[in-house]
Amino acid sequence: MKALVLYSTRDGQTHAIASYIANCMKEKYECDVIDLLHAQHVTLSRYDKVLVGASIRYGHFNAVLDKFVKQNIQQLNSMPSAFFAVNLTARKPEKRTPQTNSYVRKFLLGTPWKPAMCGVFAGALRYPRYRWVDKVMIQLIMRMTGGETDTSKEVEYTDWEQVKKFAEDFGKLSYKKTL
Ligand SMILES: Cc1cc2nc3c(=O)[nH]c(=O)nc-3n(C[C@H](O)[C@H](O)[C@H](O)COP(=O)(O)O)c2cc1C
Repeated sequence: MKALVLYSTRDGQTHAIASYIANCMKEKYECDVIDLLHAQHVTLSRYDKVLVGASIRYGHFNAVLDKFVKQNIQQLNSMPSAFFAVNLTARKPEKRTPQTNSYVRKFLLGTPWKPAMCGVFAGALRYPRYRWVDKVMIQLIMRMTGGETDTSKEVEYTDWEQVKKFAEDFGKLSYKKTL
């Protein structure tokens, strides 16, 4: 059986999560892991199921996500499909569900895609890797929301057990059901 895991990343965390999920599924599935930026020519019908993951930057998913959904909407809605989002708001457990994470809730309300499953994962905070303006902005947001403000730190908030459970459930997903 073949599964496709697509991801949109800026700093690598969504890629790491996509690869981890593919690795969890490798016993039962042959998994392709592909950057959404290079997925224009991917044929979804060659796969038994598809998972798309994307991260949030300044309140938005990369535009490549909407573009991909638009271009593939019929196929996406007629095969087992799932979505996951990565952001720092989800470092708070109460903001880690599709209903309580505002980015995901908004995305699901606005998209014609009806993924059968949806995961929300906490991302990573990697101050030393950010350019100056991003470092200042993220520090400000962290100060306002009670997060880490020490710009010498790198913190990974991703709950890998949660990701593993999601991968197991996605592996079992065999028919289309809507949220
Ligand atoms: C410049 C920048 C802006 C961000 N904006 C948000 C945001 O608006 N909301 C949020 O919850 N997380 C935000 N984040 C956190 C990212 O979603 C988080 O770092 C995630 O792990 C990034 O995933 P990626 O490495 O796959 O791009 C931002 C991070 C950066 C660097």
